[in-house]
Amino acid sequence: MDNTEEVVALCKRRGFVYPGSEIYGGLGGIYDYGPLGVEMKNNLKKLWWSWMTVEHENIVGIDGAIITHPRVWEASGHIKSFVDPLTECKKCHHRFKADDVDGKKCPDCQGELTEPKNFNILVPTELGVIEGEKIKTYLRGEACQTIYLNFKNVANSTRVKLPFGIVQIGKAFRNEVTFGNFLFRQREFEQWDLQWFTKPEEMDQWFEYWKNARMDWYQSLFTHPENLQFYQHEKLAHYAKKAFDIRYRDREMEGIHWRQDWDLGRHGQFSGQDLSFEGIVPWIVETSGGVDRTFLFLLLDSYTKDGDRVFLKLNPKISPYKVAVFPLLANKPELVRKAQEIYKHLKLECKLATVWDDRGNIGKRYYAQDEIGTPWCVTVDFQTLEDQTVTVRDRDSAVQERLPVASLDSYFIEKLK
Ligand code: GAP
Repeated sequence: MDNTEEVVALCKRRGFVYPGSEIYGGLGGIYDYGPLGVEMKNNLKKLWWSWMTVEHENIVGIDGAIITHPRVWEASGHIKSFVDPLTECKKCHHRFKADDVDGKKCPDCQGELTEPKNFNILVPTELGVIEGEKIKTYLRGEACQTIYLNFKNVANSTRVKLPFGIVQIGKAFRNEVTFGNFLFRQREFEQWDLQWFTKPEEMDQWFEYWKNARMDWYQSLFTHPENLQFYQHEKLAHYAKKAFDIRYRDREMEGIHWRQDWDLGRHGQFSGQDLSFEGIVPWIVETSGGVDRTFLFLLLDSYTKDGDRVFLKLNPKISPYKVAVFPLLANKPELVRKAQEIYKHLKLECKLATVWDDRGNIGKRYYAQDEIGTPWCVTVDFQTLEDQTVTVRDRDSAVQERLPVASLDSYFIEKLK
């Protein structure tokens, strides 16, 4: 079942994602994350970063600049070949990526289409204050290039030895001919990349390792891991022996790429610097994923309808809020006082992302928390004042259990392990 439209509407209504520059009519392919979206995206990025740098040995991170020297994109091959074939309708002047339209007719008005022309999708910009002396450069077309630029810096300033990895989460920019499909194809988006530097003779082994490790990682996050699959590319770059995608329902989420010594070799050649290390130019296995695509697919995958209930069955580690706390009745100060005490304790002392709600009736509050994927709701009622217990409602089963207030910390911490 395709629930994209409902998920897009939910994103706007509840503050996950807004169309970029909306009050000026929007800007195609550009989006802003709202209060819940930024929490969820940060949770995701923290999980990825810690999986890479804490759970693995020999991986360090960088945060490179978005604007780079223009020669970078000559060396990388993007100026020459980062192109999409663009075709235009002679009647309505709508533009399309030639690969996306069948035949020679405009999908919008059936007008005749022009012959496709190659269009470079790097996003240019200018640096400098004097007209005529400005230098033309580009916003990063792929984040990984700043890892190659800093390869020697990292090798010299840390204690890494081959094989080792450099990771980065950062923005990339592409003048996509056909943007759309919500977060799927944007013109500004975020990538999480690992560049794993290895000896050539260990390349096969590491390629297999990372391919499987990345799939396991994604599967551990998705509600329906069976929706993820590998796709093997047949058309390969000349240096690549193999390339796989990890796909969500046939749509690419991450690429596992055999980059060999192409990147360091080219940057060595174009910069005139020696980029060898331990006597060789290391070979590279790349895992390059889309943060926004993962975010989108996780929402689509977790969106669940059960009778009248609509809920995001998100892995609690990703949910924007872990716990919601309610007083059963907002006009009973003794209930509000006790609920506030629990709310503040969970939020400030246990450092759990906790939200307060005392609007409307309890049913509406559960509905509102279900819709944003909050895994547990704590309600303070009159019994709480007598025996120091509360109800804890589970999002997925909608079942409530009664627990002592004193056990809440350990209960949630155990659940989040
Ligand atoms: N460094 C390799 C590289 O950039 P890519 O397959 O072009 O490879 C990697 O991009 C990932 O970035 C993709 O798997 C996808 O998740 C994400 N991505 C690429 N273009 C995107 C776009 N226009 N909007 C959103 N995400 C995109």
